[in-house]
Amino acid sequence: MENQTVSKERNLTWHQMDITRGYREEQMGQKAAVIWFTGLSGSGKSTLANALEKYLAAKGKHTMLLDGDNVRLGLNRDLGFSEKDRVENIRRIAETAKLMNDAGLIVLTSFISPFRKDREEARRIIGDCFLEVYVSTPLEECERRDVKGLYQAARKGEIAEFTGITSVYEAPLHPQAVTDTSGKSVEACVAELAAALGY
Ligand code: ADX
Repeated sequence: MENQTVSKERNLTWHQMDITRGYREEQMGQKAAVIWFTGLSGSGKSTLANALEKYLAAKGKHTMLLDGDNVRLGLNRDLGFSEKDRVENIRRIAETAKLMNDAGLIVLTSFISPFRKDREEARRIIGDCFLEVYVSTPLEECERRDVKGLYQAARKGEIAEFTGITSVYEAPLHPQAVTDTSGKSVEACVAELAAALGY
C-alpha cells in the first residue's frame, strides 16, 4: 500500500524541505489556494479566470493560471477526451496546482472537468484550499456562442464524446461560487466571484 509519504514497493520516501509552504506564504503575504473553474466549453471559464487573475494581480497577489487548451498543447498533449484520459488530465492538473500551492501561489484552473468524482479527487489532492467555481452558463447559450465552432461539429457527429452533446457534464453540488455569464459583463461576474471567494 502506498501512502502520502512512503512507498516501500518503489523505495520512495517523501523528503521534508526546510523552506515550507507556510514560509513562502508568509514571504508573499498571502494564503495559497486553487480557484477551480468548471463548466461547459464556451461557458466563459477562461475569460473569467483570466479576468479574476488580473483582479488578484492588481491587488498584489501572486498567481498562476492553468488553462485547458494550453495545458493540452503541452504537459497533457498525450491525452484525448475519453473518460480515462479526462480523469488523467484532471489528476495531473490537480498535482501541478498543488506543487504551485507549495510555491505559495494562488492558482486558477480553467478546465471543463465534467465529472464530479474527478473534481472531488482534485479536492482530495489539493486539500482545504480548493475553491470550486461553477460557471453555470446553460448549454443553449454556450452552443449559441459556439466560439470555436465545436458544437456545430459535434452535432454533425464530427467530434466524439463532446461534453454537453455526447458526453455528460455533472454540475457541482456545493460550489464555493457560481456565476452564469449570459447577459452579464465580465466585470460584473468577476465582482460576484471575488466577493463570494473573499478576495
Ligand atoms: S476536460 O473535460 O478534460 O476537463 P479540457 O478543459 O481539458 O476538458 O479541454 C476542453 C477543450 O478541449 C474545449 O474547450 C475544446 O476546445 C476542446 N475539445 C476538443 N474535443 C473536445 C471534446 N470531445 N469534449 C470537450 N472539449 C473538447
